[in-house]
Amino acid sequence: MTIKACVFDAYGTLFDVAAAAREAAKAPGGERLAECWPQLAEIWRLKQLEYSWLRAVADDYKPFWEVTQDGLDYALAVLKIDDPAMRETLLGLYQKLSAYPEVPAMLAALKTAGYSTAILSNGSDDMLNAAINSAKIGNVLDASISVEAVGVFKPHRKVYDLVGARMDVQPAEVAFFSSNCWDATHASAYGFQTIWVNRAGAPLDYVGSAPAHIVSDLTEAAALVEGM
Ligand code: LAC
Repeated sequence: MTIKACVFDAYGTLFDVAAAAREAAKAPGGERLAECWPQLAEIWRLKQLEYSWLRAVADDYKPFWEVTQDGLDYALAVLKIDDPAMRETLLGLYQKLSAYPEVPAMLAALKTAGYSTAILSNGSDDMLNAAINSAKIGNVLDASISVEAVGVFKPHRKVYDLVGARMDVQPAEVAFFSSNCWDATHASAYGFQTIWVNRAGAPLDYVGSAPAHIVSDLTEAAALVEGM
């Protein structure tokens, strides 16, 4: 089956989620964070995801930007960082995450080859627009699809349904890239051709269906899709 659309998870796949904590540690007042920013980034991310899953199971949706703040507050509490100014700095940086270095050229190559390109993310529309603008990749994306339209988070099937509804493609015509293994495996079970971008060299999750491909970054994405 020929691929028509290439769809990407946002956070951790296109945008570097650790960048906010890493950059904040270098900012004025970042001395305490300099000692523990990798830990803060990891707890923040894990809690953000955990809260999104719990809210999906409990049918208790609130926008991902608020879930992101809740995850940060938990991480700051674990690390005993009581610093409202640093909290604001971290959130400001999260709105302006950088893209991984290979991303702009990779998206441009997919567009040149004739594929539609899109983001499918838990992120709220305003978060995604801010990240797309700061990473300057709006010109190589055809769509930014947020879960806001269905009020539930990944890996609920209603989220994956948004791709067919917005892009007029069948699931098997979609190459779906995610650095979150659980997202790739559930998207695979849904029927997308999935590629797990295993940037961290993690083991496979025991949920969903195995992804069709595993890569370590997005550098060869266009060549991979050509061969699918
Ligand atoms: C997203 C999160 C799961 O962008 O990374 O949807």
